[in-house]
Amino acid sequence: MNRILKWFDDRYPIISFWEEHLSKYYAPKNFNIWYFFGSLAIVVLVIQIITGIFLTMHYKPDTELAFDSVEHIMRDVSWGWLMRYLHSTGASLFFVVIYLHMFRGLLYGSYKGPRELLWIIGMIIYLTLMAEAFFGYLLPWGNMSYWGAQVIISLFGAIPFIGEGLAEWIRGDFVVSDATLTRFFAFHVILVPLMLCGLVFIHLVALHKTGSNNPDGIEIKKDKDESGKPKDGIPFHPYYTVKDLFGVGVFLFVFFGITFIVPEVGGWFIERANFEPANALQTPPDIIPLWYLTPYYSILRAVTYPLFGVDAKLWGVISMGLAIFLLFLLPWLDRSPVKSIRYRGWMFKTALTVFVIAFVLLGYLGTKNPQSIDLFLFTNVTWAQICYFLYFAFFLLMPIYSRLDPVKPVPDRVTMK
Ligand code: HEM
Repeated sequence: MNRILKWFDDRYPIISFWEEHLSKYYAPKNFNIWYFFGSLAIVVLVIQIITGIFLTMHYKPDTELAFDSVEHIMRDVSWGWLMRYLHSTGASLFFVVIYLHMFRGLLYGSYKGPRELLWIIGMIIYLTLMAEAFFGYLLPWGNMSYWGAQVIISLFGAIPFIGEGLAEWIRGDFVVSDATLTRFFAFHVILVPLMLCGLVFIHLVALHKTGSNNPDGIEIKKDKDESGKPKDGIPFHPYYTVKDLFGVGVFLFVFFGITFIVPEVGGWFIERANFEPANALQTPPDIIPLWYLTPYYSILRAVTYPLFGVDAKLWGVISMGLAIFLLFLLPWLDRSPVKSIRYRGWMFKTALTVFVIAFVLLGYLGTKNPQSIDLFLFTNVTWAQICYFLYFAFFLLMPIYSRLDPVKPVPDRVTMK
């Protein structure tokens, strides 16, 4: 066996790769459950690709046939319902996993040096994932697919001078039509998945260059033993392969539970209006994207006044873009001398808590009619404006409060409970 492996390794670096990236790759020994989500994101990506391949075998990218082909998959194709529900559940859980993965970055300051590029590549993945979900959502050609695409593409129309032309270019028509559906299909099934796979590869290369951060925010590479191994590190394989497999087991339990028992999750994973075919003459009462895009949708709708001669719609679009762009800048906005929340002071902890509440509320408000009152006292749009302010304050004030924050001393070695 060894000779066969050696024969291969002399021609292709299987063993060297295995050693360099798994059995002799040292990861901090104090990973906790927050470190499950990277491997889970890979698992969901694979599930989406496999179920997507089966769906593509029966789906028809044609406005006359698309809606019925999805119904055909659900009713007639053997196990078609399962492929479709796994894919729709996977889409939402992908974002659950990614949001938790990103939140871990905020908790432990994983975006800070030397991992700035790793974070930026992650942010590009996040944007690409949003595009993938948006393109995919048009494909069932339900009424919310149609109107959702209509609204989001029309946002480009707010850009001065080139906006209208740009929106028309994206749609390939004056309204969302067959031309739009076929190009979105091409993007959703081939272009964007290819980009995602490539980006994940680049993300992992960057990760293995710097090594993982950890819940203490200590650089384990700085403290090595005589043989050159980090004192606070353990080989990724078998320790973390086994730990991650356990995480995958628990995750699949939840994943299959939702898929088999409540695949629509009360309209949160598959919206009710999407069980009706697209109808250009009938707008749904509220046009709402799926939950993972609603925080930004809320930010867009929170701007209701023109300012400096710029109309509210354009300000909304600019705010939405800025809300995402600020996440890219995190490594430079955060001036704290420590990484992990464990050693930060009350200022950062309060700011992060307020930010999370504002982000979740924005997401919730984005699923509601702006003028109705679903929380107490104020209309939803007023609440969204308050959260809009808190969201931006978290980033824009960060250079100040992260520097003033009374931090605790960071230990030399990682801590284990
Ligand atoms: C398809 C999407 C993604 C996949 C498959 C993926 C995969 C991974 C994996 C396997 C790890 C190492 C294990 C872990 O730390 O959990 C990791 C680490 C990391 N990822 Fe991602 N990731 C994705 C998206 C993102 C996004 C959207 C961001 C942020 C915007 C991000 C930022 C990071 C950071 C900062 C680390 C290092 C964390 C640390 O060491 O504390 N990733 N990623």
